[in-house]
Amino acid sequence: MTPDHRELLPISAARAANGALTLGGCSLAELAERYGTPLYIYDAATLDRAAASYQAALANAYPAAWEVAYAAKAWLNTATARWAASHGLGLDVVSAGELAIALHGGFPAERIHFHGNNKQPAELAAALAAGVGRIVVDHAGELAVLNELALARGARQPIWLRVNPDVDADTHGHTRTGHAASKFGLGLADGTAEAVARQALAMPGVALLGLHCHVGSQLRAAAPLALAAQRLLELAAQLHAATGWRLAELSPGGGWAVPYEPQQALGLPAIDDYVSQVAAAVVAGCQRHDLALPRLVLEPGRSLVARAGVALYSVGAVKQAGDVIYAFIDGGLADNPRPALYDARYSALLANRLSDEPPQRVHVAGPYCETGDVLIHAIDLPPLRMSDLLAVPASGAYQLSMASNYNAALRPAVVWVEHGQARLIQRRETAADLLRRDE
Ligand code: LLP
Repeated sequence: MTPDHRELLPISAARAANGALTLGGCSLAELAERYGTPLYIYDAATLDRAAASYQAALANAYPAAWEVAYAAKAWLNTATARWAASHGLGLDVVSAGELAIALHGGFPAERIHFHGNNKQPAELAAALAAGVGRIVVDHAGELAVLNELALARGARQPIWLRVNPDVDADTHGHTRTGHAASKFGLGLADGTAEAVARQALAMPGVALLGLHCHVGSQLRAAAPLALAAQRLLELAAQLHAATGWRLAELSPGGGWAVPYEPQQALGLPAIDDYVSQVAAAVVAGCQRHDLALPRLVLEPGRSLVARAGVALYSVGAVKQAGDVIYAFIDGGLADNPRPALYDARYSALLANRLSDEPPQRVHVAGPYCETGDVLIHAIDLPPLRMSDLLAVPASGAYQLSMASNYNAALRPAVVWVEHGQARLIQRRETAADLLRRDE
């Protein structure tokens, strides 16, 4: 392993005597043999450490109650739901589908927060039936529907309101969510958030417990998050003055960045720094407005799971085309659309052997019928041979959850590695899976 990949790879990464990369004590060459490629590998030690670091950071930085809630959209299956439950995390879901997976994994419904800007009545009903802890209301129409549904069940559903704090964040346009024109949340500046909060306070079917926002993803600075939290506290103070309502819970969302390439690790503040800046902003805001400290809920997705995941591909061929060299691998756009969607950059390592040959600049491309199916543009790798294995670090978030069946690709198998043991947590799709819905 080159030293500069250490920050990107799972914490258990090492090289075996034969040069093969190992994760969780398992050789990737052996895993490829056993499960095939493309293969996604999650390292339990890295997941556990990420959860513990977030929890320790909040415990140190925030002098009142808190919760770390995993944003399931980064990737959820039964095993990850069980993992999140066993670490005492909360869970942010955004659809009836994610809710069903969470419940199947035994995740306690009361620790689930149900988000989304256009939840269908059937999804709200499913959330109520499951006893979901918080429903995060996005707009007035949803609030009215939810109130009716809850009353019909004789229930009073705890809710948060999603507020649009009008805070711009320095990230890709597709992952910015806190600016005024974002489709998410209730506007602060035009008074919508306050008006809808007052409506909620008058409704017997809902109990307004908190305010929430999420300003974007892959954020490398805490300032926009701290500013958004302060704006939510201003709203809480106005509501308190006008109605006597007390803010019990505050969630400034998730969004912390991870490095995908070695150089991106430089200058990225540690999770501790981000958490302490946000916590300090909440404490200061509460002092300024004379509010009791609310329970502070952070919702990390990527920064909890990205580093734990590695994608493993087999090299099929190396091909010269004009003045570029392509290294063809057996996955790409279908299991990882992020380069095509966000110009995301990734790194890769030769995983089955070490090489001291001088590197070659290659484009790592997949097999799909799309020119945009280039997983990595211009990376220097040792000369590759057919059947070499390439490991792509930082593959644990928003890859499997955004994977598609483009070209009727079969979605990869996923294994969990821990203490030298590998366990299949999701089998590879088969052609029969592809045909299952056809009439
Ligand atoms: N909370 C809410 C309400 C969110 O919408 C999100 C992400 C999160 C928490 C977690 O954000 P994270 O900590 O993972 O940045 N598909 C994109 C990312 C979209 C994120 C959407 N919302 C990507 O692949 O980069």
